[in-house]
Amino acid sequence: MSQEQDKIFFRNFSLVLALIAIMMVAFYVIAKFASEKEEHAEAIETYENNNTVFYASDPVKGKTLSQPCAACHGVDGNSVNPIWPKIAGQHSSYIFKQLNNFKNGDRVNAQMSAMVANLNDQDMRDLGAYYESQKISLGFSNPNSIDLGQKIYRSGDKDSGVAACMACHGPAGNGNPSAVYPAIQGQHAEYIATQLKMFKSEQRNNDLNGVMRTVAGYMSEAQINAVSEYIQGLRRN
Ligand code: HEC
Ligand code: HEC
Repeated sequence: MSQEQDKIFFRNFSLVLALIAIMMVAFYVIAKFASEKEEHAEAIETYENNNTVFYASDPVKGKTLSQPCAACHGVDGNSVNPIWPKIAGQHSSYIFKQLNNFKNGDRVNAQMSAMVANLNDQDMRDLGAYYESQKISLGFSNPNSIDLGQKIYRSGDKDSGVAACMACHGPAGNGNPSAVYPAIQGQHAEYIATQLKMFKSEQRNNDLNGVMRTVAGYMSEAQINAVSEYIQGLRRN
């Protein structure tokens, strides 16, 4: 090869190398984009007409939608003020049901009904997927309430007919996403006690078959307060 031919060969060769490099970068970008899209698409469970139904949901879109919620529930769903429930780590199936209930008036709360008015079903699934992906910050129990609280939580009260909370909400309060039993572990005691009193007075009546109205209906105020403290301090076990 002459020197001139050498030059042309190497110029072409570097051009080919550059082209290969560009194609590799392009493939990488496309593959990464495709896998990210896949990562975002998550199936969430909801329970409809006695069947478990799976829907695609996007926690990244849910995070964007959650911006107006942060004022009360915190950026990651861990509210600081105990009048607002923590929703971090909550099952998306339960969040979806509650948001729907607030929208159609089955669960009544002025602050929440304003917040859900413009959300559609897919938004509610995406919000559910986002909060479910967050981690709840756990709390502590008032030591004076642990004995009575634990007794009610684990065995109920056979004399008055209070069912054991553990039977549905699980020994550590993790609930059951398929049955739409909410996770209650680490929830603010003040919020829990308010909800139990609202179930008892039937002011909250969006529980299927009245399960929580029945449970709370048999509870005394002392039992409500003790079990709420106990649940606030529940830890994974
Ligand atoms: C102004 C304060 C406020 C804002 C903003 C707000 N919430 Fe709420 N949220 C509440 C209150 C108060 C409750 C409890 C209502 C009750 O006592 O029944 C609640 C309850 C909920 C519940 C039910 C929790 C449970 O454990 O049952 C969910 C889910 C929820 N909010 C999601 C959202 C989402 C999603 C947004 C944003 C679109 C939002 N909230 C914005 C105040 C707020
Ligand atoms: C038979 C099953 C069952 C038993 C037993 C039961 N729960 Fe529930 N609980 C539920 C279901 C279902 C819901 C969700 C209701 C709804 O759809 O809004 C719920 C909701 C709740 C909520 C509201 C959660 C929230 O984030 O707003 C609290 C608090 C609660 N239960 C506490 C208790 C306590 C305390 C006990 C025991 C004294 C108990 N539950 C026993 C099924 C049960």
